[in-house]
Amino acid sequence: MGNCWEKPVKEEEVLVKFSAPSSEVPKSSSRDVKSSSTSTQTMSSASDSVSSENASEGQILPYANIRVFTFNELRSATRNFRPDSVLGEGGFGCVFKGWLDDSGLMGSKSGSGMVVAVKKMNNEGLQGHKEWLAEVNFLGQFQHSNLVRLLGYCFEDNHRLLVYEYMSKGSLENHLFRRGSTHQPLTWSIRVKVALGAAKGLAFLHNASSPVILRDFKTSNILLDSNYNAKLSDFGLAKDGPTGDHTHVSTRVMGTFGYAAPEYVSTGHLTVKSDVYGFGVVLLEILSGRRALDKNRPTGEQNLVDWAKPYMGDKRKVFRIMDNRLDGQYPMKAAWVAATVALHCLSLDAKNRPHMNSVVETLGKLHDISELPRPRPQKVVGNLNDNRPQMKCNSVNNQSYGHSSENDPHKDCSKSARNSR
Ligand SMILES: Nc1ncnc2c1ncn2[C@@H]1O[C@H](COP(=O)(O)OP(=O)(O)O)[C@@H](O)[C@H]1O
Ligand SMILES: [Mg+2]
Repeated sequence: MGNCWEKPVKEEEVLVKFSAPSSEVPKSSSRDVKSSSTSTQTMSSASDSVSSENASEGQILPYANIRVFTFNELRSATRNFRPDSVLGEGGFGCVFKGWLDDSGLMGSKSGSGMVVAVKKMNNEGLQGHKEWLAEVNFLGQFQHSNLVRLLGYCFEDNHRLLVYEYMSKGSLENHLFRRGSTHQPLTWSIRVKVALGAAKGLAFLHNASSPVILRDFKTSNILLDSNYNAKLSDFGLAKDGPTGDHTHVSTRVMGTFGYAAPEYVSTGHLTVKSDVYGFGVVLLEILSGRRALDKNRPTGEQNLVDWAKPYMGDKRKVFRIMDNRLDGQYPMKAAWVAATVALHCLSLDAKNRPHMNSVVETLGKLHDISELPRPRPQKVVGNLNDNRPQMKCNSVNNQSYGHSSENDPHKDCSKSARNSR
């Protein structure tokens, strides 16, 4: 296994980057306090047209619970960034499993002390610094049960690293789309739990006194702990929401194909409702076990939202979008309610999308709808599109499309890169 440094960027996974709409949006934020022991003055960028003093730009803001690590400490914590300890990879770089001593202060021998995840920027230059800074400044200020905890960072020469709490079940993406003995299909109740946890994380950000727009909400950025509690991660593209009379923030369009809200892609106008659209896509992926975009599927099914929309609001048709790997083991009514929530989030007019508070409220009631169809004794192999819950379905359908080696902790990071922050 090689390292993560010299990898080609996969074209189709690169962030969407269009030219920026021009209007300046003035803002003031409680996060504008500047104080830092490190010299990051050169890092502010004028490329995004919001204030240059928001949390993604300028300086590292002071947060009491964040520890500053040296590069050597993190090198020893990860056993010199051993390739076999890679947990995953995104556009920023590889994420390694590491160990700190019990006080959380120093690297310790592998297998002893506290397990952490260490994200390391994948090039020696300053590219990616802005995303790194946004993570420090956004995640560093929050503590919430549905946001991954940032424990510290390293900012030394050209090294940019982040240290997080370790999420032992990895990303939701892996659980939904990877096949193999290590990834059994998620049950209905776990899917509901994960969707609800992710919704709560997003609601928390949107309800903050200075609302935060995550901007890159997707399954690879939703991490799961040992009890399948969902926590949002990857704040590299996060933005302060509009303040005062402003209805939106104008930015370069960045995010991930398939998840970005249509009005954001076409105008660059970003609001919390852009995240709500992304949530709709993720909820649909959770229900269907299909990727937002999947070129391996037949034409007409490659764009999940376009394919699923006609079925989502119809009680009699919604079974068609449900994941075969659920084997029909879900309450039909609950599936329909969840699909209706997703459809609402996917409204083309952003104003018609719900606030995340109401999404949390509705998803919170899904656990109460519990009647499952009686399992059929034998597998029925037939029409692969027929996902009716009464029927046990052949999971071949999903296997042929869903397999992915992305984020495979065992893969050679030097050979392929995911650049979908
Ligand atoms: N705290 C963590 N615990 C366990 N795995 C993690 C953790 N953070 C990230 N990962 C893994 O690494 C992948 C990439 O992490 P992410 O923060 O999204 O990186 P990037 O900013 O490069 O996109 C995730 O999808 C997940 O598989
Ligand atoms: Mg990511």
